Amino acid sequence: MEKIETKIIKVNEINPEEELILEGAKFIKEGKLVAFPTETVYGLGANGLNEEAVKEIFVAKGRPQDNPLILHVSSIEDIRPLVKSVSKEAEILMKKFWPGPLTLLFKKSKKVPNIITAGLDTVAIRMPNNPIALGLIKNSGMPIAAPSANTSGKPSPTSADHVIEDLYGKVHMIIDGGSTGVGLESTVLDLTEEIPMILRPGAITLEDLQSIIPNVEEDLSIIKNSNDIVPKSPGQKYRHYAPKADMLVFVGDVENMVMEIKVQAKEFISQEKTVGIMATEETKDRYGQGIIISVGSRKNMETIGHNLFNTIRLFDQKEVDIILAEGVELSYIGTAIMNRLKKASGGNIIKV
Ligand code: TXA
Ligand code: MG
Repeated sequence: MEKIETKIIKVNEINPEEELILEGAKFIKEGKLVAFPTETVYGLGANGLNEEAVKEIFVAKGRPQDNPLILHVSSIEDIRPLVKSVSKEAEILMKKFWPGPLTLLFKKSKKVPNIITAGLDTVAIRMPNNPIALGLIKNSGMPIAAPSANTSGKPSPTSADHVIEDLYGKVHMIIDGGSTGVGLESTVLDLTEEIPMILRPGAITLEDLQSIIPNVEEDLSIIKNSNDIVPKSPGQKYRHYAPKADMLVFVGDVENMVMEIKVQAKEFISQEKTVGIMATEETKDRYGQGIIISVGSRKNMETIGHNLFNTIRLFDQKEVDIILAEGVELSYIGTAIMNRLKKASGGNIIKV
């Protein structure tokens, strides 16, 4: 692949400098690739209505062509030309959760290129809650197509350094707007079928959605450990967020988890393996051996979401052979965290 000159710009994350946002928007209008921060993870953006530009996204990431992209808008009104119709539920959800980490599926209009939807008749759209992202979209004057700005298969980037690690020389611009808040990709919700279905769990949780659409359900493949269940969202079928090391995730009572991880760590260390332990604030002092990193606090699970992908990348940097990770409860944001851990470990989840 031809090497692209990558321009890196640092932009103020609270009050983005207008001239810098305009520079990014100019790149988007020219059909170039611009990586930018959102409140969830960094996105790799291109003009969503320009097929040639969107093709470059797939090339830069090494992304399979059958995996559709999310269009990012800067206002609710922006969605009208992109969709066939908007249900009452969708109107209510957009008003309540946008801008924010909720992606909605709509029946697509003709205006949306097929490369965005990978040939599906639905299009995924969200309005990110980040001033840099919103400014970039608004000033580009078009929806921005953006997958997470990582190499396909790697953990999503939660800082500009992660983007640089994966995409330097492959994109035209990287906008550094600090570390992302949520740290996990948006919730993907399908409203186009009879039963509203969460296809990917995120920071807008099942519990949040139930208060508005009580009949909402979760796609079974999100958590269940079975190869028989085919995910409805194409992206969910790939091994994702994967560290270079093998990974085992332990679930159950915290005391049992700590005990079992200690036993396993001892065993792997006796085989001369470098062991990483993904612990929590509450347990990190109890292991005594291995490379121990606290991913966040069980009392504030948002911190675990915020740090998860960075922690996986840290273990890679330390070149551990195996990661032994504590799991979390399957409620609220815990569902999204466990979904990512399941994928990062290739389904190696052990009940204790
Ligand atoms: O938080 C996020 O959503 C980030 C930031 C950059 O906005 N973006 C992101 O995009 O995570 P990506 O491409 O890495 O993940 C999009 C997910 C994939 O699992 C994809 O299969 C699914 O959304 N998706 C997109 N369009 C779809 C559609 N029409 N039907 C079903 N799933 C769809
Ligand atoms: Mg992704």
